[in-house]
Amino acid sequence: MSQGNLLYAQSGGVTAVINATACAVIQTCRRRKVGVFAARNGIIGALREELFDLSGLEAAGTAALRHTPGGAFGSCRFKLKSLDADRAHYERLIAVLRAHDIRHFLYNGGNDSADTSLKIAQIARALRFPLNVIGVPKTVDNDLPVTDSCPGFGSVAKYTAVSVLEASLDVAAMHESSTKVFVMEVMGRHAGWIAAAAGLAGTRADDPPHVILFPEIAFDEAAFLARVKATVERVGWCTVVVSEGVKNADGRFLAEAGTTDAFGHAQLGGVGPFIAQLVKTRLGYKFHWAVPDYLQRSARHIASKVDAEQAFAVGKAAVEYALAGRNGVMPAIKRVSSTPFKWKLVPVPLTTIANVEKKLPRSYITADGFGITPAARRYFEPLIRGEDTPPYNAKSGLPEYATLKLKLARKKLPAYRIADK
Ligand code: F6P
Repeated sequence: MSQGNLLYAQSGGVTAVINATACAVIQTCRRRKVGVFAARNGIIGALREELFDLSGLEAAGTAALRHTPGGAFGSCRFKLKSLDADRAHYERLIAVLRAHDIRHFLYNGGNDSADTSLKIAQIARALRFPLNVIGVPKTVDNDLPVTDSCPGFGSVAKYTAVSVLEASLDVAAMHESSTKVFVMEVMGRHAGWIAAAAGLAGTRADDPPHVILFPEIAFDEAAFLARVKATVERVGWCTVVVSEGVKNADGRFLAEAGTTDAFGHAQLGGVGPFIAQLVKTRLGYKFHWAVPDYLQRSARHIASKVDAEQAFAVGKAAVEYALAGRNGVMPAIKRVSSTPFKWKLVPVPLTTIANVEKKLPRSYITADGFGITPAARRYFEPLIRGEDTPPYNAKSGLPEYATLKLKLARKKLPAYRIADK
């Protein structure tokens, strides 16, 4: 029996290194002589039978994916509901896979995508369609369980720590006659991994960031203002890092935009300016604030080498797992040792990943709730090590990112309107 083709799809928020995973998938398929497709805009493209045929993709463009941010084939925020509620979608998906002789499906995403992968494996079994479904880890939020870290996180962590370090040098220079408080808002909807990584910027007492606000610790306005005031009086200035997911004692986000995405997640953003304004109103200090937003998760120019390597490795392993006949698993990163930093990949069942969010352990947060502990530092440091600078064009001065000539495979099935089902 033919080993069939492989379909790769990206899901959820993209990262600086998700295309390194794509690069590994394509290159490994080529080496193993397996036909490879990518769905346009994740599962949406799979349903619409919009599949990029990557067999003819030029080698140079494929290689350039390794250092190109964004999601080369498009990603999506689209969650398939239960097998019963979305039966038509699942059956359509299997029909598309069948039509293109796809026997291996790789879904590159976070915990919601692991849930979708599981359901696809289930429906394939129910419809007696031979399919190996492999989840491929990715999320800057670093909130997948089991795996030591998530590809994408190391790079956002590096961007955040470096940005806090550099902006703090600016404030330090200006504070005497100008800005006293700098506030930076970082991503991380429910977990404070990115906020905590900012703590790597400082190594000695009174180094920035002086205050980190985590989603895991309920916001205490009085304690926060007292800490900022004491820092400004002692150091002269204060750098604050605030996670977008910070909540008050009632469990409500400090900054909820009032909208939700397709996964039902509240859209966040704006807690940085909120916190800065609070400091100004209550303490009277001049401030600046920054919300790097997409800048942080797309900052490939300052990617972590370890992260880029891990992103590539999970793509390669996912193809190998599928071709070995594994189903319903994900390559997870297992830390073998922190010093020296050693890791390996192990297959873990998607049932242990789906819909589970890993929070920052309390042992990584100092007793006062405003900083990171030595244990956290031991965990984070290896993940931001090394640089993996993209090649730059001498004339334009810009990174040379991949510009692929993507070709959709000829459709074999009737058109499918997702909204109608
Ligand atoms: O990928 C996860 C994430 O980075 C969250 O931290 C953030 O809230 C979200 O994506 C925002 O992205 P979008 O609005 O594109 O869904």
